[in-house]
Amino acid sequence: MTTPPPSALHAIPFICPLDGLPLAPEVGSLICANRHSFDISASGYINLLPVQYKKSRDPGDSKSMVTARRQVLDAGLFDPLADVLCEVVGSEITGSGREATGQTGTGEDEQPLLVDAGCGEGFYTARLAAHLQDNLKERAPKALGVDISKWAVMAAAKRHKNIAWVVASNKRLPLLQGAPKVITSLFGFETWPDWAQLQNAGQSVIVVDAGPRHLIELREIIYPTLQVHEPPVHEGATANSYELVSETSTRFEQTVHDADLLIDLLEMTPHGRKSGAEARDRVKARESLSLSFDAVIRTFRHR
Ligand SMILES: C[S@@+](CC[C@H](N)C(=O)[O-])C[C@H]1O[C@@H](n2cnc3c(N)ncnc32)[C@H](O)[C@@H]1O
Repeated sequence: MTTPPPSALHAIPFICPLDGLPLAPEVGSLICANRHSFDISASGYINLLPVQYKKSRDPGDSKSMVTARRQVLDAGLFDPLADVLCEVVGSEITGSGREATGQTGTGEDEQPLLVDAGCGEGFYTARLAAHLQDNLKERAPKALGVDISKWAVMAAAKRHKNIAWVVASNKRLPLLQGAPKVITSLFGFETWPDWAQLQNAGQSVIVVDAGPRHLIELREIIYPTLQVHEPPVHEGATANSYELVSETSTRFEQTVHDADLLIDLLEMTPHGRKSGAEARDRVKARESLSLSFDAVIRTFRHR
């Protein structure tokens, strides 16, 4: 039998999305005992989203949204948030965040798995993986980015070869039960009942949501009247045996001197879909804009 070339995908305990059996590496693919086979794409990701689980032909973020998000994240606008997130995830992976709650976790996994659910084009996944590698060396977790958008996963896989990337739905993460020590969901879509089934006691979900002042200056330009929302409380977490164990608010300001980048910022958020041509023209007319960034990072741990 030919030895498959190494791929970050081979280290991940995937299951077959059709029958739930473990997937084993073959040359250029992963295959289950029932011979369901899934090809590894030329850019290095795998698609484990069978067509019957797709609610649309091209689910998730579009190619243009992915491009816009990449421009904004590459410009460094969200870097201060990424830095705080790395600390929070690092302490949850090592267990140092558990002392305060008296929980000790699920035992010392040799190389735990970090799953970034709804990873987009992979900016935070890659930041997290690099931070954990630098700090934890051989104890660093394996990292997996999951998104339902093939455009997002393709962009991520093309740029970051050391990380495993999969097209799949948060609702059916194709992983062995108990595998993800930490799931991150960053401005994403949490599916608490499904994650509660997948994770064991002591494993966690780290969620990032927009706070009330997030991009308020941009929203003031777009909307005639401004709605200020508190971040969601995630009743779904508590209803599914997760306990909120930590909460960190991150607020900072960035000035953007580039109208195209402001439009990209609009495109990558739900405001892009909601704003008409006139609102976009008002944004485009800005030579620069000082923006508030406001996010809340919460750690929920499975009881
Ligand atoms: C607002 S974006 C956030 C992307 C990334 N976490 C970030 O902050 O840059 C939400 C992402 O969730 C993905 N998504 C939407 N529904 C999903 C689902 N059911 N399962 C997995 N990903 C999903 C979208 O394709 C999109 O990339």
